Amino acid sequence: MKCVISQDINAGADLIRNGELVAFATETVYGLGANALDPEAVAQIFEVKQRPHFDPLIVHISSVNQLDQLTFGLSKQAAKLAEQFWPGPLTLVLPKKDIVPDLVTSGLDSVAIRIPAHPIARQLLEAVELPIAAPSANKFGCLSPTHAEHVAEQLGSEIKLILDGGACTVGVESTVVQCLGELPVLLRPGGISLEEIESCIGQVRLAEIEDHAEANSPLSPGMLPRHYAPRTRLFLVNNRDEVPAKGLNGLLSLYPLEETFLKGHQFSAQEILSPTGDLKIAAGRLFTALRNLDAAGIDNIVALRMPEKGLGRTINNRLERAAVS
Ligand code: TXA
Ligand code: MG
Repeated sequence: MKCVISQDINAGADLIRNGELVAFATETVYGLGANALDPEAVAQIFEVKQRPHFDPLIVHISSVNQLDQLTFGLSKQAAKLAEQFWPGPLTLVLPKKDIVPDLVTSGLDSVAIRIPAHPIARQLLEAVELPIAAPSANKFGCLSPTHAEHVAEQLGSEIKLILDGGACTVGVESTVVQCLGELPVLLRPGGISLEEIESCIGQVRLAEIEDHAEANSPLSPGMLPRHYAPRTRLFLVNNRDEVPAKGLNGLLSLYPLEETFLKGHQFSAQEILSPTGDLKIAAGRLFTALRNLDAAGIDNIVALRMPEKGLGRTINNRLERAAVS
């Protein structure tokens, strides 16, 4: 299949209406979209991504007016979050109506919904006038794509169109908040920090990886302990003192490290996420940095844990799930 990379929104809308797949830019990562109301179209997402069927998809809409079709309305806290962070990198898990196919939600009675902010995603959603189910446009378990070329590398032979919106500015996936019971639960840290969520609605419960792994009632089936992995073995350490002197040849850090430290090691590839230590910029560069290290032909990567605040928490979550333990 010949894959076109363009900004042809109408071509994208036609493909979605015809039950086909389209990859498209969002501000977080590129998505692989299909008509969310068409189970056969959605089935192709799972096939192309090689994604297990127990891992439900996010449904993207262009406006809160589309919520009524899909869910039973927003709780008070969900409404506050929607008001403050939509359009943007926030996904709300809400009670689902029957119109949403079971395939989209992996049989759960809730559906994950997001209104993206990127102009390409918005134009596509407005043109197609349908909700679009879209996971990140990568093979299951691999690094999420933040450039059209990343999508083409992994899925180019299996899809017809990638709607190019340049580099994703947020660079990590959306924050997923479950709003089903009394207390909202943060299922996945993402582009909106925990601090921002809590300043909007007060304290939320944090889902632990163990919650997700629980076989009988996983909170968020897709939050597998290992995910987002580069091909190269990655070790996550708390600080420089934990970096062994020998045997590691790729380095990922927030700040540049001192010459004296670097001299004592033998790194042949190094990625610095933000010279000024800006965690938002660091999140934006994370997946590209991991890709660069993957391409550097090294045996292993040592990553230094970020400060556990703001988007540092999100980056740590991705690094934990990329790391070998
Ligand atoms: O930024 C993003 O969220 C990107 C862009 C494309 O929107 N999408 C994305 O999708 O990251 P995906 O499929 O890679 O991650 C969706 C996450 C998974 O962890 C899944 O388990 C969770 O959302 N999820 C989806 N529906 C859910 C539900 N009903 N209950 C709990 N978790 C759900
Ligand atoms: Mg993903």
